[in-house]
Amino acid sequence: MRVLVPDLPEFRELRVEGVEFAFYSAEQLPEGEAEGLVLWLTPPGLQGQLLNWPGLKWVLTLTAGIEHVAGALPEGVTLYNAHRLHDRAVAVHVLAGMLAAARGLHRFRDAQQEGRWKRTLDLGTLDGARVVIWGYGHIGKILEDLLRPFSAKVTGIRSRTPDAERDAALAEADWVVLLLPSTPETKGIVNADVLARLKPGAWLSNQGRGDLIDTDALLAALESGHLGGAVLDVTDPEPLPEGHPLWQQPNVIITPHIASTTRDLIRRGADYTRAFLTEMQAGREPEGRVEAGQRY
Ligand code: GLV
Repeated sequence: MRVLVPDLPEFRELRVEGVEFAFYSAEQLPEGEAEGLVLWLTPPGLQGQLLNWPGLKWVLTLTAGIEHVAGALPEGVTLYNAHRLHDRAVAVHVLAGMLAAARGLHRFRDAQQEGRWKRTLDLGTLDGARVVIWGYGHIGKILEDLLRPFSAKVTGIRSRTPDAERDAALAEADWVVLLLPSTPETKGIVNADVLARLKPGAWLSNQGRGDLIDTDALLAALESGHLGGAVLDVTDPEPLPEGHPLWQQPNVIITPHIASTTRDLIRRGADYTRAFLTEMQAGREPEGRVEAGQRY
């Protein structure tokens, strides 16, 4: 079986019985057909060509989200994703943001940059905090476990949660954590109406996709003081351009879409690929298959 993989040192070291690796990069594309494609950190402009490679039967995207592939996948090509590669780091990132916000670290960092010793009583813990995890899946479960020692009260919302139940949970929340994928149904799901229903002072954490939130509505809710603040790893637009008003919001903590990143991510991605291909070569179905009905 011939498989296209990114040209990275960790992937160059891969050996799997019966698999021939062909390496792609912005500088060089291999020749000849390939049955599989491991899509990751793809140079801009290359993705379309890779997804339409002659002989392609399956694609493994080493991301959790699939919206970059979904609409562009030729008929009959099987798609796999790799949420397990990212779940724990994202959950840790959410917790880190919540603790940073509760302890006011962003405000102290701002004061530090001005060399000011600025004390305040306006600090909290997560004791008793009502946390709504909107998009409760693998990451949500890990986050719930991580939050347990902090005595937060977690409610998970899934797509099948009845609207009334969801709205009641949102109205009580001190934190709303968005872990939803980007789909036609979730685009702009956090709009002015939803923000208005949140408790005054509630915080929002978006670790899903930027387009889940209507950015203008978010800015308005922050500026009016209705929303306590936001921790955003994803934004709309993304990357957030220089001069965008979100940069200037005192109670917004922005990270540049790195929630799932760890120092050893590439190594873990290569290890994941090896395990995936070993399963396939053994005639077993590897994990992560995205059924056609789940693609948007
Ligand atoms: C990152 O956002 C991912 O989908 O893996």
